[in-house]
Amino acid sequence: MLSAIILAAGKGTRMRSVLPKVLQPLGGRPLLHHVIDTAQSLQARQTVVVAGFGLEAVQAACQHHSLVWAVQAQQLGTGHAVAQAIDHIQNDETALILYGDVPLIQTGTLARLVDLVDDVHPLALLTVHLDDPTGYGRIVRDASGNMQRIVEQKDATPAERAIAEVNTGIMAVKGVQLRGWLAKLQNNNSQGEYYLTDIIAMAVADGFMVRSTQASSEMEVLGVNDKAQLAGLERLYQAEQVMALMKAGVTVIDPARVDIRGEVSVGMDCAIDVNVVLSGKVVLGNNVSIGAGCVLHNVTLGDGVKLNPYSVLEDCTIGADSRVGPFARVRPGTVTQDHAHIGNFVELKNAQLGSGAKVNHLSYVGDASVGAKANIGAGTITCNYDGVNKHRTVIGEGAFVGSNSALVAPVTVGAGATIGAGSVITKDTPDDQLTLARAKQVTIATWQRPVKK
Ligand code: UD1
Ligand code: MG
Repeated sequence: MLSAIILAAGKGTRMRSVLPKVLQPLGGRPLLHHVIDTAQSLQARQTVVVAGFGLEAVQAACQHHSLVWAVQAQQLGTGHAVAQAIDHIQNDETALILYGDVPLIQTGTLARLVDLVDDVHPLALLTVHLDDPTGYGRIVRDASGNMQRIVEQKDATPAERAIAEVNTGIMAVKGVQLRGWLAKLQNNNSQGEYYLTDIIAMAVADGFMVRSTQASSEMEVLGVNDKAQLAGLERLYQAEQVMALMKAGVTVIDPARVDIRGEVSVGMDCAIDVNVVLSGKVVLGNNVSIGAGCVLHNVTLGDGVKLNPYSVLEDCTIGADSRVGPFARVRPGTVTQDHAHIGNFVELKNAQLGSGAKVNHLSYVGDASVGAKANIGAGTITCNYDGVNKHRTVIGEGAFVGSNSALVAPVTVGAGATIGAGSVITKDTPDDQLTLARAKQVTIATWQRPVKK
């Protein structure tokens, strides 16, 4: 049996932020969520999170995850942190200790680590060799290569500081031994902290051989302590996300200029131009093309949809073979059928567009349904808000709304109806007829320009 313990109580002083470090975003979601998801992918019996700084915020951010909480009110060291979780750990199970600020650790690496633990090897450690080990705990081995202890940077001699193999912090330990060793930890070191790392020497003193395995890549065990490291990890993470898209067949013009902050699923032959941000849940059909500078959040695009540059879409569904933008804004609740055209400087909010409907230029269509093949002229505005309540506009199939019309909701434009340009429509208009609502044009024959006195 396996339980995961995630250490997440630290403040992250170097972040210089009111947001606890483990809630800083990587790929659009908290660092901690990445670690929780990886822990849970190992089929752990439970995931215990040790939280302290910003406890309420951390718990609120994880309310949809199934977790056990342990509170470390004062951050007295990593050993003290694990001790706060030990009551949840059974003697005969393995506890996998993870860090909330080491987000890219991979399931496969952890599975290898956990497999090293058995009845005669109650402790296994994940280590890594670094070109620059500064700041990390160093792995001290004897002449035959057996691990003896870990020495922290601040407690290390110059010779020990030269060791390139370092502690990632991630370890797997049998519950019964962990319980015993934690109880014996002392804080007589240069930082006055209870170091979890001291249990390595305790295991050796108890006659156990401490096994270790190496992380597959350095990236997996990189921790986040400041905004520069956060940005560095973000780039590594993004490179992986984009690589997955390309492996799925997406044509990406520049892999360094696409950001994915959520889940993207794709059909065949999709293409993504530069500076595109995809967040939340994005679903692309076949042959979808996303132009430069588009920003999408929770969007479904049907087969053959073309998003022209600089379009911003949120919580909406665009039907097959539709065209959007450039410079379109599609807001929540909007659903279009196939072959819709949404042109430049058009804003749609909670709008339903039928098959082949066109809103091509400079319009606001909100709380409205637009029938199939209707054509909404340039500058048309649905006046959906009376200052207190929102009202709906219904535009029938095949209607033609002349440019610069204002449709004052609640109002219905009949199927096949034509609205003269510049109309202010306040009453329902009949099907198939021309309705005008504007001052009549007059020419005043007797009028003369004034002359200068
Ligand atoms: C620790 C290790 C070091 C290792 C390094 C890897 C110890 C004593 N040292 O050092 O050997 O090379 O990680 O990154 O373990 N935390 C708590 N409560 C505390 C203290 C820490 O929850 O009281 C959490 C932090 O939020 C963080 C993690 O534990 O997620 C590591 O703590 P940190 O202070 O960063 O340890 P390091 O000094 O980096
Ligand atoms: Mg650290």
